[in-house]
Amino acid sequence: MQSSLRTHLTYWLIGPLLLLVVAGSFVSYRIALDAATKAYDSALLDPVLAIASHLRRTGSRLELDLPSIAIEALRIDTEDRVYYQVLGPDGELIAGTPRLPAPPERLAPEEHVFYDARLEGERVRIAARAVKVEPGIAIVQVAETLVKRDKLVLELLFASTVPQLLIAFAAVALFWLGIGQGLRPLDRLREEIAARSPRDLRPVSEQDKPQEVRSLVSALNRLLSRLNAAIESQQRFIANAAHQLRTPLAGLKTHAELARRQPSTSELSSLLAMIAGETQRTSHLVNQLLTLARAEPGEAASGQPVNLHEIISRDLRDWVQRALGKNIDLGFELEDAWTLGEPLLLRELVANLLDNALAYTQAGGSVTVRTGVRDGESVLEVEDNGPGIPEAEREKVFERFYRIAATGGEGCGLGLSIVSEIAERHSGRIDLSLPSGGRGTLIRVVFPRLAAQAAHIVLPVSSRTVPTSR
Ligand SMILES: Nc1ncnc2c1ncn2[C@@H]1O[C@H](COP(=O)(O)OP(=O)(O)O)[C@@H](O)[C@H]1O
Ligand SMILES: [Mg+2]
Repeated sequence: MQSSLRTHLTYWLIGPLLLLVVAGSFVSYRIALDAATKAYDSALLDPVLAIASHLRRTGSRLELDLPSIAIEALRIDTEDRVYYQVLGPDGELIAGTPRLPAPPERLAPEEHVFYDARLEGERVRIAARAVKVEPGIAIVQVAETLVKRDKLVLELLFASTVPQLLIAFAAVALFWLGIGQGLRPLDRLREEIAARSPRDLRPVSEQDKPQEVRSLVSALNRLLSRLNAAIESQQRFIANAAHQLRTPLAGLKTHAELARRQPSTSELSSLLAMIAGETQRTSHLVNQLLTLARAEPGEAASGQPVNLHEIISRDLRDWVQRALGKNIDLGFELEDAWTLGEPLLLRELVANLLDNALAYTQAGGSVTVRTGVRDGESVLEVEDNGPGIPEAEREKVFERFYRIAATGGEGCGLGLSIVSEIAERHSGRIDLSLPSGGRGTLIRVVFPRLAAQAAHIVLPVSSRTVPTSR
């Protein structure tokens, strides 16, 4: 469900406001009702007092000395029915109706009380008074139905609720309009962003924005600047890649043209050799680019337990072959080193490091590959005693397409950036230093260690058997 800030805030306001209206109405209703009840009660006491003052004793009999017309006058009421009753000291009916209930408490002489009761299924309000008639006391009661009182209750309820409801309604309406007004800066921001060209990644101005929007804008600006940097580096990368591809392809073209015009077979074969070399370099470059694309973070690395020892053992023979061809002494010192990762990518990482060591170390030199656990971390090392990488170049060689000037060979400058990309993807770090021999290059890649026990559980034992090194 799409949620609107405005609706949300308004709902949030309506609930408490309704509660306030109900509470406020209730309080003012109770106060008004109390006052009205007192007024009606005291009016109800008047006929009681009138009747009481007309009680006479004639001989031993108590009588109500009031003409029946006067009594009728007492009973006249436009809306309610009125009843009265006079009881003698012994509870005998002197005058009025016999059906009125007795007062709820014993009354002292000249004391009165008001109470609610039912008379023939109808609710009534009764005023009762004890009147001294020597000897003893008489009880005078007047009852009336509640028609006008009920009417008054409704009127009071209406009078106290309606204005409050109107105020609440007006408040909600004003609030609704106010929020709309308050959210205007967001609308303007949306228009401002929508109006931009997709290439325009300049920061959005924060100056003219209210404080609440400013933090949103500044987060947006940080995102824009990161996006900008990413796009720039992407463009640089594409330009570099295009340049790198163009050079061998141009060579291929020229040499193929020349080869077509060659009558002599010896010239032809040397041109074809060049073409073969350039083709080789191009396909290497394309492979490197594909590896880089694969190693780029983005899709989550689906790690599995990997033993670095095993990764290297798999291609051992090929590497020894290559080293022999160049008369380099290639040695392996391999111990188990488990980590979580992708075997194909890790193999690519090792290949790029070994490729560099074998490519840049002079004939007669030596290269050593080590794996193992050091300080609780899984470590891979490739060490050579070749020309080494000058201190100033040690960061740059990890940049894409960067090659140290005057470096020969067929490389395109992507090898070490692939290494760093893959290491990063495996939460590893790279250390480039001078070997203890004081000459050459030592590259160490440190991975988070996976405890061997954990690895055992996941991997069947058979897949851990590896050829021994050296
Ligand atoms: N083992 C090494 N010994 C000396 N120089 C190296 C070594 N490894 C890398 N380099 C230098 O670092 C540069 C970048 O290496 P890399 O990214 O693999 O690109 P490439 O090998 O394609 O030139 C190389 O051009 C080379 O000058
Ligand atoms: Mg390389």
